[in-house]
Amino acid sequence: RAPLKIAVVPGDGIGVEVMPYGVQCLKTVASIFDIPLQFESFDFASCDYYQKHGAMMPDDWKKTLLPFDAIYFGAVGMPDIVPDDVSLWGSLLKFRREFDQYINLRPCRLMPGVRCPLAGRKPGDIDFWIVRENTEGEYSSIGGKIFEGTDRETVIQETVMTRVGVDRVLRYAFELAQSRPRKRLTSATKSNGISITMPYWDTRVVEMAKNYPDVALDKYHIDILTAHFVQKPNMFDVIVGSNLFGDILSDLGPACTGTIGIAPSGNINPDGKFPSLFEPVHGSAPDIAGKGLANPVGMIWAGQMMLEHFGYKDAAAVMLKAIENVLARSEPDVVTRDMGGNGTTKSFGEAVAGEIASLGKGASN
Ligand code: NAD
Ligand code: IPM
Ligand code: MN
Repeated sequence: RAPLKIAVVPGDGIGVEVMPYGVQCLKTVASIFDIPLQFESFDFASCDYYQKHGAMMPDDWKKTLLPFDAIYFGAVGMPDIVPDDVSLWGSLLKFRREFDQYINLRPCRLMPGVRCPLAGRKPGDIDFWIVRENTEGEYSSIGGKIFEGTDRETVIQETVMTRVGVDRVLRYAFELAQSRPRKRLTSATKSNGISITMPYWDTRVVEMAKNYPDVALDKYHIDILTAHFVQKPNMFDVIVGSNLFGDILSDLGPACTGTIGIAPSGNINPDGKFPSLFEPVHGSAPDIAGKGLANPVGMIWAGQMMLEHFGYKDAAAVMLKAIENVLARSEPDVVTRDMGGNGTTKSFGEAVAGEIASLGKGASN
């Protein structure tokens, strides 16, 4: 069998700290299920690399990464050293756009053992997917400055929505909703205030819905939608939103279920023409970097999404079960501070790897 080639790109800060446990968990599950994973690490797409080379990545990064089946990515950003727009537009946002990873898929689930900051919610009550448009929208490089340095200084940045770009993310979201028992899709909009692009988004939603009569559709303006996330999170099944709205909702959602430290993300090129990228939702967390305190579960769960993407359902199920079991036990010496424990990246990461190994013994026999 041809190996599945995975480019390991740890990046900066806690990205570097959580990555080894993601790889360890993947290697553990791969050996149990005999999955031919092959890892190769890269030091580019990091601010260290920028300091040495004056760019976030080598010119031929695309040629280097194209042969890989997936990219396993940590986090990028050292804002005290390199401005965030430089580091992110020089790395992660390039991957997303140039590898046409137009879906950003982010699950949000209240897991057993994780303290939910919302009153009266129990595991199972919150279980939805955010489908975020990932290549256009508010994240555009069209715009500029005029009259710089004068009192008429003006900055403009355009939002771009293309018919192809909007329709393909909507189609993906409708398909995902249709595959789930509740078959419910919520569209995030702001067509009362953003009066050109958002009404267009709404029109395409209505048009696309005609192909999915069995999917229950609703839409909310982004402001009240954030309120519903907090007050009625159980109403959601699949949520689709533009690049910026999806970004905001995918920190808010995991925060509502306890911690953003466990949230994973798949940047997917569904056409399979380019490698997809799997990463935690969180960033490089400079405030805790270098201390071994980062929660490794977002990184590990992103690896689980990668296996799912490759079609290794049984192995992915074992990995998810292992994460659930370790979270459910939430032993104070194992789990990290963001979950109320006093464990470390190492204690938590090794506990999940150990749980995969013991579950795997049963599953592969
Ligand atoms: P962040 O996600 O890095 O951190 C936000 C807060 O959550 C911090 O207090 C941090 O300590 C905590 N946190 C995050 N992940 C955690 C984990 N695994 N375990 C425990 N606590 C965790 O967001 P930020 O502070 O806005 O950004 C920091 C840097 O990361 C910036 O440079 C930003 O641009 C970048 N960033 C990168 C990505 C990415 O690479 N995908 C995503 C978000 C932010
Ligand atoms: C994310 C991050 C990125 C985004 C930043 C770092 C550019 O917040 O992956 O959610 O906004 O997409
Ligand atoms: Mn974000």
